Amino acid sequence: MESDFLVNFDTTGLVEEQVDYIILGSGIAGLYTALTVSKQGKNAVVITKQDIDDSNTDKAQGGIAAALDTTDSPELHYNDTLMAGDGLCDQDAVSILVNEGPDRVIDLIELGTQFDYKDGELAFAREGAHSRRRILHASGDATGAEIQRILSKRVREDSKVKILKRHMAVDLLIHENICYGVLVYCHDTGIMKVFRSSAVILATGGLGMLYKYNTNPEVATGDGLAMAYRAGAEMMDMEFIQFHPTVLSLPGAPRFLISEAVRGEGAYLRNRFGERFMPGYHELAELAPRDIVVRAILTELANTASEKVFLDLSHLPANLIKERFPTIGRTCARYGLDIAKDLVPVAPAAHYMMGGVKTNLNGETSVNGLYACGEVACVGVHGANRLASNSLLDGLVFGKRIVDYVETHRLDNTPDKNEFSCTKLKSEPVDYERIFLELGNIMNKYVGAVRTEQGLAKALSFFSSYDWLKEIQAPDLRAMEVKNLLEVGALIAHFAITRTESRGSHYRLDYPQSLEHWRKHVILKK
Ligand code: SIN
Repeated sequence: MESDFLVNFDTTGLVEEQVDYIILGSGIAGLYTALTVSKQGKNAVVITKQDIDDSNTDKAQGGIAAALDTTDSPELHYNDTLMAGDGLCDQDAVSILVNEGPDRVIDLIELGTQFDYKDGELAFAREGAHSRRRILHASGDATGAEIQRILSKRVREDSKVKILKRHMAVDLLIHENICYGVLVYCHDTGIMKVFRSSAVILATGGLGMLYKYNTNPEVATGDGLAMAYRAGAEMMDMEFIQFHPTVLSLPGAPRFLISEAVRGEGAYLRNRFGERFMPGYHELAELAPRDIVVRAILTELANTASEKVFLDLSHLPANLIKERFPTIGRTCARYGLDIAKDLVPVAPAAHYMMGGVKTNLNGETSVNGLYACGEVACVGVHGANRLASNSLLDGLVFGKRIVDYVETHRLDNTPDKNEFSCTKLKSEPVDYERIFLELGNIMNKYVGAVRTEQGLAKALSFFSSYDWLKEIQAPDLRAMEVKNLLEVGALIAHFAITRTESRGSHYRLDYPQSLEHWRKHVILKK
């Protein structure tokens, strides 16, 4: 394989290491998959570009959805997931998610995850578009941090799992549509290394950093998506970017997520005139599917010439707020807000991608030997709009299925020697930070929650104006990230201009209706 992506370096003399599994990413999908590998008696290397806990999982507040309550059932969870997905969910994938999900959550509990209990029973919260309380949470609103804590601990204790932190996967190594390894860059030493395996698993998470306003950690730069695309994998439904409706919007404060569970406990959304507006938009009011709440907020912002709406918890019992939302309470207090009394200013921000690298029900991509799970993957469980708190579950369920599948179907036809080489690229100084800022503005303005053909065309012309960058070598990790972001942003704009209808999180002002002939996936490949 010849890479036109990155560096101009000599491949002779590269250190190579052979492992049973290569796992890229250290969020819930990557770490749980690594533990599953180890249970099979096999070894895995987990490659993560910063520290093991730098992931979207660590930031997750609301929780993890699973039909574990006695009043709940996988069938009810299935119906809610399909309803939120707006006609685009893959029904077999959703059936697997809701039926295997409860066992995976029990695995998490057995590993030591401490979810919240009430009266000796697991406590369940409610979030948007769920017909009942089914969201498990930990430390009130720090669910992801608890899951990340326990998975990181278990992986660190596991002698079969090697963690390589501060290592960036640069490109997948491909021979005749078979992935046989990964080229990895250590950004402390600048040294490149090759890892070889007949099972390479992408668990690299999302791409929130593409947008100026987003809820994601800095590591969410779409690297796995860009790599898979360059490797020739089929990509699916990438026009569907979920915006979270309620993200703190206060000058000088970070765009901090205010969990949907806050509305699940009864908080209201009010406009700048203090009017509660959601009942006028949907029968589920504040608990309508996320895309509907986002568009209602955007309409209110336009109608009231404002840049924020407000979450109002003041009618809820103060002790409930304190117990359920300690992290949100502490963070808002830092900016002078008492969430039990004050109106909390919020606005939508980019949060999650429903699309990604297309996989089947065993996590196989269209490239042999390359698998994907978690946010980077698109198996079809989220359709056009993800049901709240289904994403952590997705990572667990489909991560395990990959290992179960590989253990019975392992490919062993990879080339003996490393065939990787790099195009000789130009080396010129480039202001990557300026490009990053421009990119965030363009994505927010033209490829945000409301889109038009004209705006998307402007975004595409922005991306074309950076074609020259493909000839320039990336000198460091940041440059690689920005190049990946450009690749992924262009793909999203391309998908979005192709779908000439509105569905789920993809809203086209010039095509405002959902159209039956568009009830299908869009698949694209390099
Ligand atoms: C939240 O707590 O609102 C986020 C949960 C999710 O995105 O699923």
